[in-house]
Amino acid sequence: MTPATVLLGRCRELVRPALVDAVGRLHPWTGEMAAYALGWADTAGTPDTGGSEGKGVRQALAVLGAEAVGADGADAVPGAVAVELVHTFSLLHDDIMDADALRRQRPAVWKAYGTGPAVLAGDALLAQAVATLAEAPGPHTAAAVRHLSHTLNTLVSGQAEDLRFEERPWSGPGAVEPEQYRSMADHKTGALLGCALALGAILGGAPDRTVSRLERAGRHLGLAFQAVDDILGIWGDPRVTGKPVHADLRQGKKTYPVLVALADGGKAAHELAMLFATAERIDGETAAHVAALVEEAGGRTETREEARRHVDAAHRALREASLAHGAAQELDVLFTHLLDRTW
Ligand code: IPE
Ligand code: MG
Ligand code: MG
Repeated sequence: MTPATVLLGRCRELVRPALVDAVGRLHPWTGEMAAYALGWADTAGTPDTGGSEGKGVRQALAVLGAEAVGADGADAVPGAVAVELVHTFSLLHDDIMDADALRRQRPAVWKAYGTGPAVLAGDALLAQAVATLAEAPGPHTAAAVRHLSHTLNTLVSGQAEDLRFEERPWSGPGAVEPEQYRSMADHKTGALLGCALALGAILGGAPDRTVSRLERAGRHLGLAFQAVDDILGIWGDPRVTGKPVHADLRQGKKTYPVLVALADGGKAAHELAMLFATAERIDGETAAHVAALVEEAGGRTETREEARRHVDAAHRALREASLAHGAAQELDVLFTHLLDRTW
């Protein structure tokens, strides 16, 4: 076990009882789908010890956010539960929007239970996320709920941008600019990672200045996380990621590696642009060819550098907030780990 997996495990164990309790308060049917999505049960509702619970990054950021401001990690638990539930909700709905049939090595919830039920299970998780945080004890609950509500709006905007980008051309007038991609990724992914750290700090009683520095660190981490996600979507191993490979390409997703490859100006970039302009649709074989051209045009390397730049910025934002030494070190470990992740 690496130091990062140890700390993710520690945070997971701290949060688990409250997360189990929150899911246990759902309607039994939505609760069953939530337990499936969280890797706790199979589709028959039988406990599944082999299921993937996901990385648990968001709950860990909430716990470490509280510890970093000198509070007890336990103070962050309602925030940690809220961000994990929001994350799970967003994945349930995202797999429907993206038509992705596989998640965490198993059929996505909409494949396993049907689209209508999966939409409802997502709604249930979202409602329970807000309820859990709103019921948190202590003087900082209202500020925490305000932050989460704002984040939810931002996340939805990011998903809207992501979907609208599918219809945009790959190059020429109307093409998605790298800055527009960054804004979309910041909204769909960065906002929730920033929120996780911010909620930990808010519930831990930190001053606004510290909260916003931690939030900024989380948002940069989110941009790095999404860049790595884009890389894994093209060159990842589906047996390791648990998600389909090349699905983004087939779906016309405007991911960073492809956008920067097209902007490269070289021979491979030109061939890539021609291919996008002429191909009726990107099927399996074409997707493999597109992936090779994107790599040749530097899209993979440049995206890796983009991720590195944002992780560096996240580390810097941490240093600007005066944080408890041990937790700040753990955050550094976690940030670096996420840059090197393979799933
Ligand atoms: C997920 O974005 C963002 C949210 C669910 C809000 P992606 O669609 O890029 O993520 P994966 O690759 O399906 O996990
Ligand atoms: Mg998706
Ligand atoms: Mg998506």
